[in-house]
Amino acid sequence: MCGIFAYLNYLVEKDRKFIIDTLTSGLSRLEYRGYDSAGLAIDGENERQILIYKQVGKVAAVKKLIAEQKDIDFTKTFISHTGMAHTRWATHGQPSTVNSHPQRSDSKNEFTVVHNGIITNYKELKTVLEKKGYMFESETDTEAVAKLAKYLWDSQKGNNNLTFTALIKGVVKELEGAFALIFKSVHFPGEVVATRRGSPLLIGVKTEKKLKVDFVDVEFAGETDAIAQEPNPEASFLAPTDAVHGGGKLRRSQSRAFLSEDGLPQPIEYFLASDPSAIVEHTKRVLYLEDDDIAHISEGELHIHRLRRDDGMSAVRSIQTLEIELAEIMKGSFDHFMQKEIYEQPESVVNTMRGRVNFDTRKVTLGGLKAYLATIRRCRRIVFIACGTSFHSCLATRAIFEELTEIPASVELASDFLDRKCPIFRDDVCVFVSQSGETADTILAMRYCLERGALCVGVTNTVGSSISRESHCGVHINAGPEIGVASTKAYTSQYIALLMMAIQLSEDRTSLTERRNEIIDGLYALPGQIKEVLRGDSSLQDLSRDTLAKEKSLLIMGRGFQHATCLEGALKIKEVSYMHSEGILAGELKHGPLALIDENMPVILIMTKDSLYPKVQSALQQVTARKGQPIIICNSGDEGISEQYKTIRVPRTVDCLQGILTIIPLQLLSYHLAVFHGVDVDFPRNLAKSVTVE
Ligand code: F6R
Repeated sequence: MCGIFAYLNYLVEKDRKFIIDTLTSGLSRLEYRGYDSAGLAIDGENERQILIYKQVGKVAAVKKLIAEQKDIDFTKTFISHTGMAHTRWATHGQPSTVNSHPQRSDSKNEFTVVHNGIITNYKELKTVLEKKGYMFESETDTEAVAKLAKYLWDSQKGNNNLTFTALIKGVVKELEGAFALIFKSVHFPGEVVATRRGSPLLIGVKTEKKLKVDFVDVEFAGETDAIAQEPNPEASFLAPTDAVHGGGKLRRSQSRAFLSEDGLPQPIEYFLASDPSAIVEHTKRVLYLEDDDIAHISEGELHIHRLRRDDGMSAVRSIQTLEIELAEIMKGSFDHFMQKEIYEQPESVVNTMRGRVNFDTRKVTLGGLKAYLATIRRCRRIVFIACGTSFHSCLATRAIFEELTEIPASVELASDFLDRKCPIFRDDVCVFVSQSGETADTILAMRYCLERGALCVGVTNTVGSSISRESHCGVHINAGPEIGVASTKAYTSQYIALLMMAIQLSEDRTSLTERRNEIIDGLYALPGQIKEVLRGDSSLQDLSRDTLAKEKSLLIMGRGFQHATCLEGALKIKEVSYMHSEGILAGELKHGPLALIDENMPVILIMTKDSLYPKVQSALQQVTARKGQPIIICNSGDEGISEQYKTIRVPRTVDCLQGILTIIPLQLLSYHLAVFHGVDVDFPRNLAKSVTVE
């Protein structure tokens, strides 16, 4: 949902080419978040001039545009410089140059802004600003933010105490919605201000010298809030209501900047980004901003201010070390990230289990839940809440969760859960499953449950994400960065994480020991079995090309543990190959979907050996009686399936784990169909990896 990135160098001499390359390579890492258009802003011939380059299309398009500029001196060097960049997933206004970011305040580019999120009150802001004579050029919500900054600046003319932070505080106070914003201005050369509410933003720090501190104190009071001291009487809607911040007493931050041990100013570089993948190649030291933090970097120093005073938020932002490696976010020898991530599953499932499943003692220990086990066991129900693929992983594991824990479990789509204002109580446990940990619907549902006093458990792949930070406790699935827009390895790791949770919760039930042991043994064999499924890739490629690529539609049927596989397989196929596909619960066939079946309708039927096998056999009869010719996903060695059918064979495992092996052929089929259809697999149209808007 848009990626934002900024690079600031201080006392480190860099030429313009280096700065542009740094910005565009940062954007390339974030491109999976949106790829309708891209743009960047850098200094011109002097620091009081900002140049903006924007282009519709992917980051490569803006790179080309810049390379073609005859009048840019790429060798010009800057000892101190701020550049910012954006890759867009359109929400307000179609993909076009003028709607791309950076958005600007005026034709002189006095204030430029990059934004991820949605400003919900932008129409009101725009109306007032237009009445004051500010002309808009784009259809975006973001332009109102840039114009608002300019308006506040204009209305404070002559106020020499006005700082960039104070100005942006005035802006942010007027904004509603979700946003991560980065500002650059000709009036504050070499500085940058960044803020967030509901959308992620982190800051990477790179220095040669050792830092004196590994945290930044938050500044709650600001003597520099000049805008607050002189509210503009004519602009009532813009006059900050709680603007006077403690009479100008600034608690001087002991960690202001990142002072070197000798306390002298030092060369330093900062990287601001929507997610760590754009930062890790430069530095592993990062600091995550909290909602309503206003970060200001000037003369090498980073200060963090709060929008409002004494709001109960922690007063320290510590510097953390990123765990990801650059190689993990590169494609390596694969053609696409999606393909790479499908192939990573033998290792990613091991990483999910590492240090948690003891195969000798057959014990599962999830450290993040340890302190909460008694509370969870006592709860009256568990509600799983998620979107898309993450929702399917909850569906896939609900039955085993109920069987092992004997706690009633329901699974909710986050958006529907919120629409219904679902009743939630203090003795409920709510589990939020999200690869990114930043999905707006899931975060809002979590905040709704937090307000109602439920225990909130996060299951995410992203350390430091909003869900992992705001939940009471949780499990990181440790699948490694997932870049392909279609989620693959995160699904199988979420599946295992939820299963491990169920096993750990059931450990006080001796009557279930045998069942737990059977599952743990199944987990042990899983990585090898996944490899076996992957070995069938070339026949899946043939099947996609020879049988499915020409079709318009595909039904995927199954029941019990395989229902979630049908839904997830169908989602993969539609999102990357654009082919209509529907997952159908085989038990529902006779209640409607059977009408679709004839000799022309392609069907995949999942018929693995579990207690529901006889019932799926009857679904097969129903389909063949209507001349349907299903492709059957079944277990290797199942002799009961007539040779008349095309089959995709997967190793047999415990019933509740089988879904991990049946989804992989469908992931591969969807991948090959996408390639045959000429789809840009990692960037399917209209989608974005991280859906940070409602
Ligand atoms: C589909 C897909 C999406 C996500 C959904 C939730 O391949 O990736 O359906 O699963 O947008 O995202 P997370 O898990 O990040 O909350």
